[in-house]
Amino acid sequence: MNDQKFDLLIVGGTVIDGTRRPGFVADLGVKNGRIAAIGDLQHCEAAQRIDAAGLVVAPGFIDSHTHDDQALLSTPDVPFKVSQGVTTVVIGNCGISSAPVVTDASLPAPLNLLDDGSERYPTFRAYLDALRRAPAAVNVVPLVGHTTLRVMAMPALDRTASDAEIAVMQQLLEEALSAGAFGMSTGPYYPPAAAATTQELIEVSRPLAPRKALYVTHMRNEADRCVEAIDETLEIGRTAGVPVLVSHHKLMRQANFGKSVQTLEKIQKAMGCQCVSLDCYPYTASSTMLHLDEERLQGRVVIASSASHPEMQGRDLQDIADGWGVSRVEASKRLQPASAIYHSMDEQDVQRILAFERTMVGSDGIPSSDRPHPRLWGTFPRVLGRYSRDVGLFPLETAVWKMTGLTAEVFGIEERGVLAPGMHADITLFDPATVKDLADYDNPTTPAAGIEAVYVNGALTYHRGQHSQARAGQLLTPAHAKA
Ligand code: ZN
Ligand code: CU
Repeated sequence: MNDQKFDLLIVGGTVIDGTRRPGFVADLGVKNGRIAAIGDLQHCEAAQRIDAAGLVVAPGFIDSHTHDDQALLSTPDVPFKVSQGVTTVVIGNCGISSAPVVTDASLPAPLNLLDDGSERYPTFRAYLDALRRAPAAVNVVPLVGHTTLRVMAMPALDRTASDAEIAVMQQLLEEALSAGAFGMSTGPYYPPAAAATTQELIEVSRPLAPRKALYVTHMRNEADRCVEAIDETLEIGRTAGVPVLVSHHKLMRQANFGKSVQTLEKIQKAMGCQCVSLDCYPYTASSTMLHLDEERLQGRVVIASSASHPEMQGRDLQDIADGWGVSRVEASKRLQPASAIYHSMDEQDVQRILAFERTMVGSDGIPSSDRPHPRLWGTFPRVLGRYSRDVGLFPLETAVWKMTGLTAEVFGIEERGVLAPGMHADITLFDPATVKDLADYDNPTTPAAGIEAVYVNGALTYHRGQHSQARAGQLLTPAHAKA
């Protein structure tokens, strides 16, 4: 077997294989886009040979939570992903997906976070076809958004859906699932979906159950009523009979600091009788649309983007309000459509959630601004460098597992997330001594340090700060949608 000629041979690195098993020094051979062998392969022939001594050889990272739906088409090199070692992105989160959306609909916030005025896709399949026609540099795991389905099914969004509207959403969900969605996301936190009752969320979710597809949620509340929101999410999972994933779990505002002890206890307990997972980004600030209500504008708020006042990017909302001589709410109105960064979490909660057994790493990066939250460029190296190496929150093997093997398991992504013969060759080489996020709130688009090389389906995509322009990413298909 070992006398075969490899396309690529990565020699002498420390293999951290994405299963949490301790790293071991070995060579890794790639052939036809797959991992062909792992072991002592030094004497094998290869078209290309890479010396990986001192480097970690890991599965390419899977970003469990992104908003790259449009960026995959408009910025197919996705440098903010591959420069972090990410080789697969999960899109369609927080209830917001790029499809299905009819051509002439005007999109309410937060749907406009994704809309860059480009083409619209009236069916989920049409959108997936567009992704297939124009491959990006990373693989894609699509979710369909409940908020998007509401816009399609309901003439007015400020109330819960009628039975007939629920039936339409179920049909649209079924279409998306059979086209290749891995699950459905919801965002009852946001105004247009907040009007949905728990019952609506349960009923719309019904088509997920026979396919064992995921219910992924930006919960109704991540502040004063976060514990209740966990209860609601667990109830939806139990009643609809679906696995649930709590997106970017966090506790916002000082009065709620420390409550992650309770929320995680609840999740831990529920895990005994239902399927629950969560993800988290390693920062104490959040980012989303610029809110219009006093309550959600508390604390330090920095403008990430504003279509009406682009010159205000990076400025503090309070300063803008003072300058204009108006209230923060009024200033927020004038800045719309806009997105913002909210400094509102406690470091201890972030660490506790990140370290929790079932927590995956997901960036929640929003790629539609020159002044994005630094998580867009820094999430994965920050977990490896700051939280694993410097803070010592967990071993490197655990950090890698939280961004590879665990994520593949939760989403049902086949033949990826682990380094083993036969798996697709999504591979990230990084230097464990120097890997580090360099993006911060002042310089949010600086690529990370220590990411040495990134292979997507065997194609070298990123090497020492240079993008190869390879676009070897594939649209991935869930097991339930395969013939
Ligand atoms: Zn969200
Ligand atoms: Cu999100």
